[in-house]
Amino acid sequence: MNLSVNVCGIEFPNPTVLASGYLGVTGASLANCVKHGCGAVTGKTLFLEERPGHPNPTVLTYPGGIINAVGLCGEGVKEGRHEFEVFKSACPSNPLIGSVAGKNIKELVECARIMDSHPVDMLELNFSCPNVDDEMGRPIACDPLMTAQATEAVKKAVKKPVAVKLSPNTADIGLIAKHAEAAGADAITAINTVGPGMLIDIYTRKPILANKVGGVGGQGIKPIAIRCVYDIYKNVKIPIIGTGGISNGKDAIEMMMAGASLLGIGSALAYHDMKAFNMIIDKIRSFMEEEGFTDVAELVGLAHE
Ligand SMILES: Cc1cc2nc3c(=O)[nH]c(=O)nc-3n(C[C@H](O)[C@H](O)[C@H](O)COP(=O)(O)O)c2cc1C
Repeated sequence: MNLSVNVCGIEFPNPTVLASGYLGVTGASLANCVKHGCGAVTGKTLFLEERPGHPNPTVLTYPGGIINAVGLCGEGVKEGRHEFEVFKSACPSNPLIGSVAGKNIKELVECARIMDSHPVDMLELNFSCPNVDDEMGRPIACDPLMTAQATEAVKKAVKKPVAVKLSPNTADIGLIAKHAEAAGADAITAINTVGPGMLIDIYTRKPILANKVGGVGGQGIKPIAIRCVYDIYKNVKIPIIGTGGISNGKDAIEMMMAGASLLGIGSALAYHDMKAFNMIIDKIRSFMEEEGFTDVAELVGLAHE
């Protein structure tokens, strides 16, 4: 049975990919995901310069999922190199995706150019965080023309394959994906968090997140993520890293049937800890055995037939 996947000419040992922002700050924590079965990892989104992010509290869980306003904190992209080297020396054959963003297109391109020179296999452009204020006023991925312009500018500056990470917070994600593909994107990652949303402490009578609002992820957004991936698959030919609300193996299989070639694993870690990766892979394997599939790629897009 073949669980490996070739996406953008890169060999992924299995379809699970650590989603950006979860455990992605150090090379050692990225390598620990691989030790627990994860096929590939995505680093935390980095900007050109160091960013403090939002004040605490920044992450809350609630029965439907997780709301966060971390605010894309982290070191600058140049300083990030060391952690990528640590990961690559521990896991040379597991793909590493470097996630970047920018306050404006000029900074985004410079950040991507630096990331391209790091030991990463692929870049992911985070056009879709709903809880940061940048100079563009709203996430790039809410606008088809801005998505195309930013993708094209980055593609001219880098050599490695580029995945564009899209937002569910738009009326027509299929159209946005089409614009990204036409502008040269090699893959689509979908989705980033939904919202923004808000939770209120009824005793202090105030929003709980210091930033008041945050992006919503986790179990509750699964049907939105599945529908977004389904719409994107209908509209583009490039591969999709299906992300959002995957909390077990059945969710992962649904995501592949909607059209995902790879699976972004985030919230599953909140529910199952590091056991999540092997739990998902084992379920995919047993489902394939029961249903007579021999190659995991056979699952991709089945819900469209
Ligand atoms: C605490 C937290 C931090 C995140 N940080 C990033 C980030 O740095 N870059 C990014 O592209 N997405 C980030 N995300 C979004 C996730 O990668 C993912 O797209 C989203 O949470 C949906 O997947 P999930 O339902 O499995 O969590 C973050 C999500 C959470 C909960």
